[in-house]
Formats: sequence, structure tokens, C-alpha cells
Amino acid sequence: MTHSPDTLAVRLVRVTYLTEHVSLFEFASLDGAPLPTAAAGAHIALQLPNLGERAYSLVTDSRHPERYAIAVKREPAGRGGSRHMHDMLRVGQVITVTPPRNLFKLNEQAEETLLFAGGIGVTPILSMARRLQALNRPFRFFYSSRSRIHAPFLEEIACFPDSHCRFGDEHGRDPSFGQILAGTSRNAHLYCCGPVPMMDDFLTAARAAGFAEEHIHVEYFAAKETPALTGGFVVKLARSNRSLTVKPGQSILSALRAAGVAMTTSCEQGICGACEVRVLSGLPDHRDSVLTDEEKLANQTMMVCCSGALSGELVLDL
Ligand code: FES
Repeated sequence: MTHSPDTLAVRLVRVTYLTEHVSLFEFASLDGAPLPTAAAGAHIALQLPNLGERAYSLVTDSRHPERYAIAVKREPAGRGGSRHMHDMLRVGQVITVTPPRNLFKLNEQAEETLLFAGGIGVTPILSMARRLQALNRPFRFFYSSRSRIHAPFLEEIACFPDSHCRFGDEHGRDPSFGQILAGTSRNAHLYCCGPVPMMDDFLTAARAAGFAEEHIHVEYFAAKETPALTGGFVVKLARSNRSLTVKPGQSILSALRAAGVAMTTSCEQGICGACEVRVLSGLPDHRDSVLTDEEKLANQTMMVCCSGALSGELVLDL
């Protein structure tokens, strides 16, 4: 089997059941050689048969740098990636993955770090905690889950010196982000990954408390906004000198595919950055969770899986 240089063949070497619905999948290279290094917060995309790419945050572990580990929650109503992982993938099978990509970078020099994780959003946050602990840097870890039995990595997290675990069926509502952040130095860096309502509350509280945008870090694992599907605009492809009309009900990505334009994608929900394209002119209607507000205002790139156009024409570097 041959692979392009931007993909890797890896073998599934271990599956560990973490909770009723979450398993840890560990992959190693075929020849035992080290895999490209992954920093805390990075993700890889798995190429799954008939499903395309699916992106998952890595659970990095400095004791096993030769492996990629991902914790996957089986989502019966999802797009099929997690069901395939849980139901079809078996130890010994070889799959193709992308090298690690990091849109959720950890500032390792921060004076203090606050980590907030909700549910399966714990995976990149745990990697950050492990890294900060290895560096002997101060951090606080806030982990919430609907119940103790549904919380992966609980034993490890409870052992961090300043960790706070809360469960919906035991404690009711979490203390508000505002309460936690009120007594926190504005020099601290804040990281949050969890369900969309939790992330929205976090962002509102962090901004209201006066933290600078560059100290506020989030990673979504579900779409934050609905995709732009109103259509009714033209997309010009500058490199191939073609024009496409995006029809009502279509995304730019589906219009590109219908025209036979090959696109690299993964989440197709605006959260992984795989479909980012340079915008040469026109006004995108950004619906992704990848670009910062500043980047959205600059309109230099866009995610074509979910974003549309506010102008009648967009010229893309395709
Ligand atoms: S495919 Fe993930 S952001 Fe578009």
C-alpha cells in the first residue's frame, strides 16, 4: 500500500474500555519507528472506509511518545465515525491517519493555567494537564460530566494537585465560570473544551472578566453554528478559472464536489480546519469554530464545509 507523504499508515495496537461508551484506541507505526511528534492539544484525522476523514484529539502521553491515542465516545446518532471505531475496528488492523495538527496550542510559559473540560472534551485538556505536570508548571483542572460512571480518566484527573471534578447527578449545576475566574490573575491562560453551551458560557464569562483574547483558548468538538446553506451566489475558482453557482440548500463544499473539485475535508462541521481555503475577494459568511474573530474579520481564509457568502461572488484560491 502506498500513501502520500501527508498521511501515515498505523496499526491499532490496543483498545481500552474507559467507560460504557468511551474507549481508548492506541495506534503505532507499522515498523515500530517513532511517529511524528504530537504536542498537547493536537488532533489527527482517521481515514475511515466509506466515511472519509474523522478528526479526534490526541491523548498525548510522554511515557508513550511512539503511539497515538484517541478516546472516542460512541455516538449512536452521529455521522458514523465513532460507530465504525467501536463496532468495526479491531486490534491489528491498519488504517491511514494524517500527521498531528494543532489548532489548540498550549502556552507552556504561562504564569498560571486554568483547564476546563466537559464530557469527552476532556481529551485535549488531559494532554495539556499531563504536559504542564511534566514541566512542573502550575495549573487548575475543572472537569464536569453528567455522572461519575460516564467520566473517562477520572482517577488520573482526581490525582492532579488542584483538580475539581463535578457530576451533574451529584452536585447539580457547576459553580459559574464567573465565580472561578473572578479570583484568577488576568495573566493566566484559560483553555476550555466541552459541549457548545458550556463553551459559550465560558467565553462569555472570560470576556466579561476582562481576559485578553490571546489568553482565552477553546476547541469545539461539535458545530457551534448552523451551516450557511442559503446559496444564491457564485464561487470563482481562480487557479482553474472556473465559476460555480452555489444553489439554495447547498454548501460551497457540496457545490465544489458536484463540479468534480477534489477537496480535503474531515469534520465537515467547521471545527477541524481541514477544508480551509484562501479567499481572494468577496465577503464570506463565516460559520466555523476554527478562525478567531480577528481572522474572520480579515476574510483571508474560510472553511468551505460550513461557511457561505455575504457577497454575490467569492473568488477562492482553488
Ligand atoms: S472539514 Fe473540518 S472545518 Fe471544514
